[in-house]
Amino acid sequence: MSEPVIRTERLRKVYVTGLLRKRYVALDGLDLEVHRGEVFGFIGHNGAGKTTAIKILMGLNFATSGRAFLLGRPHDDPEVKARVGFLPERPYFYEYLTAAEFLDFYGRLFKLPAPLRRRRIDELLRAVDLEGARDTQLRRFSKGMLQRVGVAQALINDPDLVVLDEPMSGLDPMGRSLIRDVIAGLKAAGKTVFFSTHILSDVEAICDRVAMLARGRLIESGRVEDLLAPRTRYVEVQADRLEGAALERAGALATAVEHRAARTLVRVADGSAAQALLRLLLEAGVTVHEVAPRRETLEELFVAEARAAAAGGRTGRAA
Ligand SMILES: Nc1ncnc2c1ncn2[C@@H]1O[C@H](COP(=O)(O)OP(=O)(O)OP(=O)(O)O)[C@@H](O)[C@H]1O
Ligand SMILES: [Mg+2]
Repeated sequence: MSEPVIRTERLRKVYVTGLLRKRYVALDGLDLEVHRGEVFGFIGHNGAGKTTAIKILMGLNFATSGRAFLLGRPHDDPEVKARVGFLPERPYFYEYLTAAEFLDFYGRLFKLPAPLRRRRIDELLRAVDLEGARDTQLRRFSKGMLQRVGVAQALINDPDLVVLDEPMSGLDPMGRSLIRDVIAGLKAAGKTVFFSTHILSDVEAICDRVAMLARGRLIESGRVEDLLAPRTRYVEVQADRLEGAALERAGALATAVEHRAARTLVRVADGSAAQALLRLLLEAGVTVHEVAPRRETLEELFVAEARAAAAGGRTGRAA
């Protein structure tokens, strides 16, 4: 496979704050690999460390340790910058510029020639449905319109890698669908898109792969269809009360055994262990009352991690 478009190695960020020089680990050894042509979702609760990681990638913040590479080069290589587009979490807008002037300003930063800038501006305003607001000053834009012109800005240089920190934030369902279409168009053109979000349905709709960050650590990553499919945590089998040899053999397969009045509850790790257990129970002539897989969705995992973060303090782990 070709060189990853984004690669981080044990990226760590410790913020030191206040007079007491309190230390917080916002990123705790992040390893990421994003490949060419992928749409990659970066998810995690508020304060998980997504923006910190993105800012380090974009050279707007420094890692305490670890390394990052973009497009096969060290991430701070100036040549990389020209091929990357970026939408910050809280973009700054020069509000007296019109939408077209704003995009033109960014086009100049990339030293694009005037005819190319004009063409890109037309294309991008069309893509984010702001043709009608072309000559409107940004101070008259709604939040959703600003977000969309921000996305257009990230694409002015026709980048190979697009990094978007919460591109769907503040958008209504129409706006979200439009940004999803823009991202799909980028993928179709062979670009790589890396974006952070809390909106799992958007991840489901457009991402190839996803990484979930919780309290500065990667807790899940993989293909969306694998991660969004509910996973079996364990299987619970309820049978007549087990005794003697049957109990012993079931116990050998189980992760937990519990007796409840006239029944026994046997918990096994997965489907194949459940099959083996059922076979031995039926052979022993034991009546089985219920077989129940207990599943967990990515959404549940997300909520559980967000709760754990809230309980433990949102500012990451104490160093
Ligand atoms: N400049 C800073 N100084 C000290 N702590 C910071 C700084 N920036 C971020 N943090 C802390 O680091 C942690 C991670 O913040 P970050 O902004 O990376 O989270 P996030 O995943 O982007 O969250 P959100 O979903 O709310 O945007 C938070 O606990 C935050 O308070
Ligand atoms: Mg953020």
